[in-house]
Amino acid sequence: MKVKSICCIGAGYVGGPTMAVIAKKCPGIKVTVVDINEARIAAWNDPDVNNIPVYEPGLGEVVAESRGRNLFFSTDVDGAIDESDMIFISVNTPTKTYGEGKGLAADLKWIELCARQIARVAKSDKIVVEKSTLPVRTASTIKSILDHTGSGVSFQILSNPEFLAEGTAVEDLMDPDRVLIGGDQTEEGLKAIQALVDVYAQWVPRERILTTNVWSSELSKLTANAFLAQRVSSINSLSELCEHTEADINEVARAIGSDSRIGPKFLKASVGFGGSCFQKDILNLVYISRSYGLNEVADYWEQVIQMNDHQKRRFAKKIIRSLYNTVNGKKIAFLGWAFKKDTNDTRESAAIYVADHLLFEQAHVAVYDPKVKEEQVFVDMDYLNTRSSEENRKYIDVVEDPYEACKGAHAIAVLTEWDVFKQYDWSKIYDNMLKPAHVFDGRNVLDAEKLRKIGFQVYSIGTPS
Ligand code: UDX
Ligand code: ADP
Repeated sequence: MKVKSICCIGAGYVGGPTMAVIAKKCPGIKVTVVDINEARIAAWNDPDVNNIPVYEPGLGEVVAESRGRNLFFSTDVDGAIDESDMIFISVNTPTKTYGEGKGLAADLKWIELCARQIARVAKSDKIVVEKSTLPVRTASTIKSILDHTGSGVSFQILSNPEFLAEGTAVEDLMDPDRVLIGGDQTEEGLKAIQALVDVYAQWVPRERILTTNVWSSELSKLTANAFLAQRVSSINSLSELCEHTEADINEVARAIGSDSRIGPKFLKASVGFGGSCFQKDILNLVYISRSYGLNEVADYWEQVIQMNDHQKRRFAKKIIRSLYNTVNGKKIAFLGWAFKKDTNDTRESAAIYVADHLLFEQAHVAVYDPKVKEEQVFVDMDYLNTRSSEENRKYIDVVEDPYEACKGAHAIAVLTEWDVFKQYDWSKIYDNMLKPAHVFDGRNVLDAEKLRKIGFQVYSIGTPS
């Protein structure tokens, strides 16, 4: 079977970039990305590609090349389902905030809605591809809904987990380490797998396209993220030990990363990992393990999250302690709000939790991020539900100029590793701050020695002070 038309439900951080790259690399396939969020679709269709809703280096160009040719963004979900051979489900699957599995399990409400909509609309056979991060065995839920429609239409469900990292999404999609496709090992299932293999094979070397059964594919996604997050928590745990000894975490990371069995990536100590995947996927793993009675397995992975929570809390406490144990009424400038550089995504960003801590102590936080909009900062704070919206607005200011953020501040906290922060005129920043002027570098991006020479008191994660 040759795929001619693809529909993707969900025009977010995964669906948007993935479909833009498929459209670029497969000019013979019509790709339609649909979403119920009208404003989001309007932004994807904005004539100026600088206004598309997802900030990713290089994405604007990719969208500009294919949009209107074989890449379309629309709110007509039914129409797109009807005319496509292959449907990607790429909707949000946040951690449940209510009921059974609250705080652990993925909320599959949106997935189920999609499945029901596909079931209602489809008049011809379809291949349905799960692209959202999902707990193991979600495919069977989708299959069960689709198979009970009685419409006579036949569906094949594939799992095709996303491995792109935000900030490098276009690069990761154009030149992936691997593409993983899981499907039923029946004749029909294998045909569906082949149809998706043929799409990716238009630009990905065949040996990098791995095929497995559905469950292995779903579990591999959770496992990959759990392993990556574990590396960050491992290095972060040692960063605390370094601060109490004469060791320097950057030197330790370099030394262990030179061992080819360990490798140099994902050993950067930080204020804590964020993003839409790591925490959610580990929580899924913990939930699934517990539901099978595997408490030791669950506890093992849960510790990765606990270490991460500790790292964020520890950073906030360090600020408070250094400012003579009181930050009440003091201005603290945040450089960065996104969960990592080169993205405007803020989901689970460490900045949110550090701000929350400081607000408990009634600090005033002035936030500057090159790509995050003011309203997003307040949405993130309000989502925590720890205080009223009014209070969040009373204690936090979001400003558009980094020098303005730092002016009159007692301290600066670097929460995201944006490259541009290194290029600032740090002497000018120092002159306009209250003294002693502190910098808490939660990402180890600034040149601490240079800052100390200017006069700053500097704290960098994992280095002895
Ligand atoms: C991750 C996976 O990398 C990707 O394969 C999957 O598809 C989605 O989840 P993402 O969350 O976009 O991608 O970003 P990633 O680069 O993995 O970073 C996650 C978090 O860990 C960020 O907050 C980052 O700052 C932090 N991190 C990463 C560190 O603190 N130190 C490191 O060494 C690496
Ligand atoms: P991700 O990082 O997984 O891409 P996002 O939250 O960025 O997550 O994007 C998910 C998108 O899916 C949102 O834009 C949301 O409006 C959309 N969405 C959720 N449910 C549906 C649905 N039933 N039909 C169409 N779009 C949906």
